[in-house]
Amino acid sequence: MSAIVKIGIIGGSGLDDPDILENRVERSVSTPFGDPSDVIIEGEIKGVKCALLARHGRSHSISPTNVNYRANIWAFKLIGCTHVIVSTATGSLQEHIKPGDFVVPDSFIDRTFRREVTFFDGKKGSPSGVCHLPMHPAYCPRTRQILIDTTKQLGYDVHEKGTVVTIEGPRFSSKAESLMFRQWGGDLVSMTAVPEVVLAKEAGLLYGAVAMATDYDCWRDTGEAVNVTDVLAVFNKNVTKMKSILVQAVGNIAKEDWTDDINALRKIVGESNMLKS
Ligand code: ADE
Repeated sequence: MSAIVKIGIIGGSGLDDPDILENRVERSVSTPFGDPSDVIIEGEIKGVKCALLARHGRSHSISPTNVNYRANIWAFKLIGCTHVIVSTATGSLQEHIKPGDFVVPDSFIDRTFRREVTFFDGKKGSPSGVCHLPMHPAYCPRTRQILIDTTKQLGYDVHEKGTVVTIEGPRFSSKAESLMFRQWGGDLVSMTAVPEVVLAKEAGLLYGAVAMATDYDCWRDTGEAVNVTDVLAVFNKNVTKMKSILVQAVGNIAKEDWTDDINALRKIVGESNMLKS
């Protein structure tokens, strides 16, 4: 008998629309790490149990630094999610990734410096031990493949991999930084990919992201440098597509048996813990 899935969905800027869920119930969830960004809205998409959370809060009042990534992910774990799929707005560091394009990232470069990056912090209420979790693969490969296939099924072009440089923000990058990220092999730049992806893996949740490129950051010699007005305009223009990818992906995830993947991930997390019993 296959394990039943429950899918947490984190909507980034512009994607936290509860209308995608049927039979909605709002739930306030507290965690040992504090409170999530907002209430979690539980419901169903085509009969599949889902839970929706606005990463920056429903009024977009929480900055990338102040998002409580640990509480968001732990809350999904507490309510029994098996998967987390997320949307995120990003800048493109590559000419061939055009504003409006979708990318399913497979790796990251972490340039954040003011965030809690592990549940295993030695504090009261936290899981015991010290967890040195491998970050390859950073994202769940099967969940990524479903997001790629779903995007193609819907007729949208998708870049099947990409490295996301995550900056602390809230400011955008300088031109020198943007050029350096390109030299490092970055494809996208974001303010929220890390530590969300890291914490989901530590929590044993199968995690995949759909990134939308909204701008070319500021590395090019021609064209406008990134600004909020352009980011929002491109995101809003393509938000219906993003919504349909996530909704359709839920159905596609639920068709498959994830028992082995869930068990394998739990085993990796257990084996990564240095605690001697
Ligand atoms: N989100 C959207 N565009 C971005 C950019 N250029 N840098 C960081 N985060 C972003």
